Amino acid sequence: MAVVDVELKIKRYNPEQDKKPHWETYEVRVEDTDRVVDALHEVKWHHDGTLSFRRSCVHGVCGSDAMVINGSNALACVLLVKDVGTNITVEPIRGLRVIKDLVVDMEPFFDQYKSVLPYLINSTDPGYEERRQSPEDRERFDDTTKCILCAACTTSCPIYWGNESYVGPAAIVNAHRFIFDSRDEAAGDRLDILNQRSGVWRCRTAFSCTEACPRDIKITQAIQEVKRAILYNRI
Ligand code: SF4
Ligand code: F3S
Ligand code: FES
Repeated sequence: MAVVDVELKIKRYNPEQDKKPHWETYEVRVEDTDRVVDALHEVKWHHDGTLSFRRSCVHGVCGSDAMVINGSNALACVLLVKDVGTNITVEPIRGLRVIKDLVVDMEPFFDQYKSVLPYLINSTDPGYEERRQSPEDRERFDDTTKCILCAACTTSCPIYWGNESYVGPAAIVNAHRFIFDSRDEAAGDRLDILNQRSGVWRCRTAFSCTEACPRDIKITQAIQEVKRAILYNRI
């Protein structure tokens, strides 16, 4: 552990005052084992209290602090200063409207998420029993249960940047989580939704989503599995 001086360049934008975004640079002293979010706190608490960014858990669980750090999407509370170096640039995630500084409007992202019915649908009454499932059946969607809805994947996708009607990788991941759940009865409805123009066929396997995911979810593979389920009517 060592104390380091970091130059933090942050893209700032306050639509009430600024015509367009601009860069501001701050010098902060942190420990190299600190996270990027700690450097941002240094700025906010000791240099400029008007800096706006989202964070909640600060432990990689809530998904609220995805941002573009040195050019790539990441969670500021997970990335360590020693892993990014002492010259750090921070920008808001791309493809969503900036509300202020690093805070973007997440509503379109959550609307896409909600559009794929991301919850268990089963009309039978389980009575006083649990809905049982074998370990093998659970394994089929285990990877996609790990999503924390941070939007790092969707906002790194070049197709999404060019066409915001594309449902995006995060929504497909969350559809996958229920499509392949043996206890669910609405896989066909979700596959119909994802077979539309805004659905999985927009994906051109760019893999940026998979590279960006802080939970290491195999997103492109999940998208391919959904495509195959549509094509071969096989779940
Ligand atoms: Fe974030 Fe990964 Fe979920 Fe995408 S799939 S929203 S990158 S956790
Ligand atoms: Fe986009 Fe990921 Fe497909 S980056 S094109 S959703 S593989
Ligand atoms: Fe919760 Fe980073 S603040 S994931």
